[in-house]
Amino acid sequence: MTIEWYPGHMAKAKRQIAEVMPKIDIVIEVLDARLPVSSANPMLEKLRGNKPCIKVLNKSDLADPDVTASWVEYFDQQKGVKAIPLDARDRSATGQIPKLCRRIVPHKGKPGKTLRAMVVGIPNVGKSTLINTLAGRKMARVGDKPAITTCPQQIDLRNGIHLADTPGLLWPDIRNQKSAYRLAASGAIGEGGMDYVSVALFAAEYLMDRYAEALASRYKLAEIPESASALVEQVGRKRGCLIAGGKVDLQRASELLLRELRAGLIGLVSLETPGEILEVEGGRDR
Ligand code: G4P
Repeated sequence: MTIEWYPGHMAKAKRQIAEVMPKIDIVIEVLDARLPVSSANPMLEKLRGNKPCIKVLNKSDLADPDVTASWVEYFDQQKGVKAIPLDARDRSATGQIPKLCRRIVPHKGKPGKTLRAMVVGIPNVGKSTLINTLAGRKMARVGDKPAITTCPQQIDLRNGIHLADTPGLLWPDIRNQKSAYRLAASGAIGEGGMDYVSVALFAAEYLMDRYAEALASRYKLAEIPESASALVEQVGRKRGCLIAGGKVDLQRASELLLRELRAGLIGLVSLETPGEILEVEGGRDR
């Protein structure tokens, strides 16, 4: 599900999150563990001010566990932040969140006191899944409108915690080209008008650099080709993505590579590391 974000939507979403924020004790920011910086919207930091934040590195079942561990370390150094890797569909793992909320905001969530939490994040990171798992039931889907209701209903989690039933929806920050490619490769943005070939070439280059063994094993490659385009071509040829004359259909080959990457079929893959982000501190070339 992709949302077209227009400046009016962004301004409205920002305003509505700002309105809800004073009523919230803790923000649960859902990020994609495979691209936790690119799947964030830096505006949230300003909106939450000094409010504590749990950064949920979601879909960690698809991410490289070593890279995820280094992301947890990276975020834990930030003031007021605690990061946890998660598969939001996993009920027992999700049970850590209420405990963590009470540990971070110890004066709330006790008998007679209510701790108010809100889930926020860009589309498709798993916000609804997390709310449903925490609530233990499927909440009515309000649709991914580019805003939250100004006065979301509270779900009583029966452990001293009240959770806003509507997530705060943020837009993906695609000002940086690499972030845009990572978001597109993960499936968070794009779909409709996406240029599959250039996204697949970007992903192929990254995979060749960091996950060569996984690629070789998935596509039974004797050796890793010299270039990203040669890799996409070989994948297409091996999988029969051909057009007349025996040429490779690059569009189909690209779609296949991205589909398999997103489904975790190439292996547990992360698309950015703290080292890469720190290297270009300031986000000039993230
Ligand atoms: P959103 O509210 O932030 O927009 O995201 P949502 O919960 O709708 O989740 C988007 C997709 O991501 C869903 O898949 C959901 O099942 C999947 N998902 C959420 N959390 C996790 C996770 O931790 N690991 C993995 N692997 N997937 C996760 P879908 O195919 O779009 O929908 P569905 O067919 O599963 O309902």
